[in-house]
Amino acid sequence: NRVVGIMGAMPEEIEGIKALLTDTTSTIIGKRRYISGMLNGVKTVLVFSRWGKVAASATAATLINVFNVTELIFTGVAGAVHTNVAIGDIVIGKRLIQHDIDARPIMQRFEIPLLGKTYIEANAGNVSLALSTITNLLENNILSQNVGKEVLSDFGITRLSVHVGDIASGDKFFATNDDKEKLTDNLPETLCVEMEGAAVAQVCYEYDIPFTVIRIISDAADDASPIDFPVFIKNVSSKYIACIVKAL
Ligand code: ADE
Repeated sequence: NRVVGIMGAMPEEIEGIKALLTDTTSTIIGKRRYISGMLNGVKTVLVFSRWGKVAASATAATLINVFNVTELIFTGVAGAVHTNVAIGDIVIGKRLIQHDIDARPIMQRFEIPLLGKTYIEANAGNVSLALSTITNLLENNILSQNVGKEVLSDFGITRLSVHVGDIASGDKFFATNDDKEKLTDNLPETLCVEMEGAAVAQVCYEYDIPFTVIRIISDAADDASPIDFPVFIKNVSSKYIACIVKAL
């Protein structure tokens, strides 16, 4: 029996999803509120994890061990890194990398100790399902209608695209062009940066639970991020994320 776990790192990211759940009950464990309910006829547990790899890992482990989720979706915002990726775009993680793991010279850079891997790959079936669902939302203008065309144009967003590729996660908010350049020097294929996805991916890999990381680009991980990020979070992310999760 399917039980879907849905995580977001900020209250704004899960607010819209909360409104889609029916028959809800809530449980507090380890300072997190887990909301169980039904979404599109599927048992679902929704939780706001808080920021960062530790917070996300602890929450993912609780979803798996206490709520017996059989699959996990992490959704929230991210900073764009690749030049093809713009604010408002959607990124689905194919490979999740912890950009702040560096145990050299004992291990190679980005290697996760004892796993012998520098990244965790998402399940191909989950990735292609997310891609076809989001492509459909974009082709039929469902996403832009849900969020509101005026809201999008306020952000200078004229066209929405979905990408599949590398997501880099670590305990750092990228807020300068310099830091972004350093990251792309080492991980040139990175599409976006955030602070939780690769941690959740590692936990799911260790428990053999399929996961999907879906990120909306809120800022360009550069000097303008401290301004763009809070505005996007406040005005756009909740509707955006709810629209995608509802369709999955
Ligand atoms: N999430 C959204 N924007 C981000 C940024 N610039 N750095 C890290 N995580 C983010």
